[in-house]
Amino acid sequence: MLESNLEALLNENREFAPQETFRKSAVIQSDAIYDQGHNHLAFWEEQANTLNWFSPWEKTLEWNAPHAKWFVDGKLNASYNCLDRHLSDWHRNKAALVFEGENGDSRVLTYQDLHREVCKFANVLKANGVEKGDRVTIYLPMIPEAVISMLACARIGAPHSVVFGGFSYDSLRDRVIDAQAKAIITSDGSFRRGNTIPLKDNADAALEGVDCVNHVFVIQRTHQPVQMKEGRDLWYHEEMQKASSVCPAEPMDAEDMLFILYTSGTTGKPKGVVHTTGGYMVGVSSTHRMVFDLKEEDVYWCTADVGWVTGHSYIVYGPLANGATVVMYEGSPDYPQRDRFWEIVEKYRVSILYTAPTAIRTFMKWGPQYPQSRDLSSLRLLGTVGEPINPEAWMWYYKYIGGERCPIVDTWWQTETGMIMMTPLPGITSLKPGSCTTPFPGVKIEVVDSNGQSVPKGSGGYLAIKEPWPAMLRGVYGDNERFEKTYFGNWPGVYFPGDGAKWDKDGYFWIMGRVDDVINVSGHRIGTMEVESALVDHPSVAEAACIGKHHEIKGQALAAFVTLKEGIEVSPHFVNILKKHVAQKIGALARPDDIFFTAELPKTRSGKIMRRLLRDIAEGRAIGDTTTLSDVSVINMLKASYQE
Ligand code: WTA
Repeated sequence: MLESNLEALLNENREFAPQETFRKSAVIQSDAIYDQGHNHLAFWEEQANTLNWFSPWEKTLEWNAPHAKWFVDGKLNASYNCLDRHLSDWHRNKAALVFEGENGDSRVLTYQDLHREVCKFANVLKANGVEKGDRVTIYLPMIPEAVISMLACARIGAPHSVVFGGFSYDSLRDRVIDAQAKAIITSDGSFRRGNTIPLKDNADAALEGVDCVNHVFVIQRTHQPVQMKEGRDLWYHEEMQKASSVCPAEPMDAEDMLFILYTSGTTGKPKGVVHTTGGYMVGVSSTHRMVFDLKEEDVYWCTADVGWVTGHSYIVYGPLANGATVVMYEGSPDYPQRDRFWEIVEKYRVSILYTAPTAIRTFMKWGPQYPQSRDLSSLRLLGTVGEPINPEAWMWYYKYIGGERCPIVDTWWQTETGMIMMTPLPGITSLKPGSCTTPFPGVKIEVVDSNGQSVPKGSGGYLAIKEPWPAMLRGVYGDNERFEKTYFGNWPGVYFPGDGAKWDKDGYFWIMGRVDDVINVSGHRIGTMEVESALVDHPSVAEAACIGKHHEIKGQALAAFVTLKEGIEVSPHFVNILKKHVAQKIGALARPDDIFFTAELPKTRSGKIMRRLLRDIAEGRAIGDTTTLSDVSVINMLKASYQE
């Protein structure tokens, strides 16, 4: 984060107390909830009692740090909790999913409809040899079948691994292999701003030479031509026609794996974050209810993609467990026009909107005329997630989208935490623009120094989660050592999220961003090592170093410093070649904004790349705006001034 932004953040002193009308009918109206949270086991037990269990748990928590078991020996099923339990009364006819396609087509699935589709697809999976414990990779656009697929897997106890549809076939392949997936669910293609992306072709390329996958289920979305491989590939619509709609939900142990979700870390290889059934469902359903102040008649829209954890927890499992009406939108915010989000809010009378700061900054740039041309009076609560929100964007969101009447919940959490960990409770928390306020009840987070000791209020340090929480990751798939080292290696029994933070005099938290080699581009986590590996994979590249530089809309953007192999001429067209290469290796989201060529990378005497110097160069502080740094003396000169 730029120093000037940091200053602005720390000098922020606006405060918004809950409005009386909101507080009076809020789900949580009293601070007493935090006292209850202090007795953390009793608090989480009470939350767990709101779910349906096939058999009760014997013990709430078994904590052999860093390994946690929650609701030991309890049996339940996530799909049962999201569907079946809503069918016994009028809720069966309540809209579960309200789908808006990019082209304006729409579909509404009631809880009964969704249950039927999920049961049928669960039977399709079973009929094709997918068994409890088998991993299934889902590579789909934002269409109802993505939710149906996830819940069908959960129903039969097959952990899913959803891979964001924007990832390349290489990324897909790595994730399929790491999870040893037995089946893939994909579609012919996906729509993106009027174009199509060939998902099935990508899946075919990803599967070349991979032998763990027996079947590929293909959903028709774009109707573009695809090749179906005899014996392996099956059309979803054909299989569904044959399937029965009766499929009892498999009783799962609370600690059985619900899903794997890959996320970037500090090494070149993404890690498969493992979440289990009981604690995760307890965490996401209770946070969803309290943080979003969920009421029966709400129309809830989370704009994330199901390929990310926000989609898992707050499009699928949390809201559906709570019987909410969930809006799902397939496309981008500017298709066909820049008012598409607001058109959707108006059309479905959305009351709760959950989106990312990067989107808000984009809307800000486009100007208030787009939201102003639509009726947004149905909105009553706003949320943000994924990256720090700068106070100016917060104020804009508050004013132009929320009409100064909607509280904003700035929610801090991670793929690994599974559920929201820090957030206002909108009926009781005074909001400060730019702060995610305080930990959720039953969650213990502090700001600590490098020894893991709490720093005094008013100072900064590292975030540390001091007690286990129900939705915490249970491991890194197939790599326990990485799990223990990455998250619990700093301070025994204390979880380190990788973020820096400050708490102020009132105990409010201000997130300062990642302190490791992970950068946050438009709310997406990207490991600099991953991009570096993709760059050196190009035959002309000798060495590469990536850093995150400040970007007004994206929060951070990727800049890469590259040295070419001996004898290879630096030429401007290499910039595009290398950008394209990274997009092909990882996905468009990892495409660097800038590539600088340098004859050597600045390193310390011990061989560490001097990333601070690179950041200063990329942000134009060290030597002004330049794309080629091939003169070694420039780097050496700069290096000298940095080594003091
Ligand atoms: C960042 C997304 C500031 C943080 C749910 C974290 C945030 C990473 C916030 C996790 C927030 C998320 N304020 N920073 N409200 N929410 N982050 O795994 O750096 O994709 O470590 O999970 O995003 O990203 P992930």
